[in-house]
Amino acid sequence: MIENGFPRLSSGIPGLDDMIEGGFPYPSVVLVAGGAGSGKTTFAQKFMFSGAENGEQCLYISTLSEPAQWMLRYATQFEFAKREFYGKEIVYFDLGLELRKRSGEEILDIIDKKIAEVMPNRIVIDPITVVGTMMKDDYRVFAFDLATRLKNWQAVTILTGEVHPGELYPAEISYAVDGVILLMLSDEGDARRKYIEVLKMRGTNHLTGKQSVDITRKDGVIVLKARF
Ligand SMILES: Nc1ncnc2c1ncn2[C@@H]1O[C@H](COP(=O)(O)OP(=O)(O)OP(=O)(O)O)[C@@H](O)[C@H]1O
Ligand SMILES: [Mg+2]
Repeated sequence: MIENGFPRLSSGIPGLDDMIEGGFPYPSVVLVAGGAGSGKTTFAQKFMFSGAENGEQCLYISTLSEPAQWMLRYATQFEFAKREFYGKEIVYFDLGLELRKRSGEEILDIIDKKIAEVMPNRIVIDPITVVGTMMKDDYRVFAFDLATRLKNWQAVTILTGEVHPGELYPAEISYAVDGVILLMLSDEGDARRKYIEVLKMRGTNHLTGKQSVDITRKDGVIVLKARF
């Protein structure tokens, strides 16, 4: 789909494409940032499975040394996460063990090699911020190099970023990417409400401000009240 001269790739998140002129610029690198339990992994999984549903090739890179079964067990509690895509349209790759013993440059090479092997047009790295805490090298330099390399592929990459209490978004990686989407939890009366905000999306006249979201077993993250 072409909108305003940019090819677009549907996010797979109900309601979000209408906020960003039809989808993510293709290719691009987008950070989805939020606190613990804000829905980052669910967002990234839905992005991937909706692509798989269209026969697209996807690559899911975990940085947490989690076995593939763990990812699958989490994902398949959602109706959209069909097991049959796993190992075919969706390739799982665990980067966790490499992170402790490799330099930033070596990690970038490992990621590039895996992308060349799978040739995905949807990539997820979940969560990217853990690399910052494990790497001895300069994380800001790494973040720029990673974003630059990822943009050379015909793919949209979702990086998930953990936001720590007191910070708005993970600063180092935010400057390097094309788009930043925040997922937030906030207190309103007795309820914990969930929100989404598009902080930036290069080349896109995106909606600004917080929009309510819900997480459902059927669709994962859905935007409830976009003001179109
Ligand atoms: N089946 C479900 N129905 C409704 N809400 C759910 C369901 N499963 C999970 N959630 C909600 O989604 C949240 C977890 O989302 P997710 O794991 O995607 O967050 P995350 O941002 O990746 O968290 P972390 O920082 O721990 O990685 C839960 O805290 C819960 O509120
Ligand atoms: Mg997560």
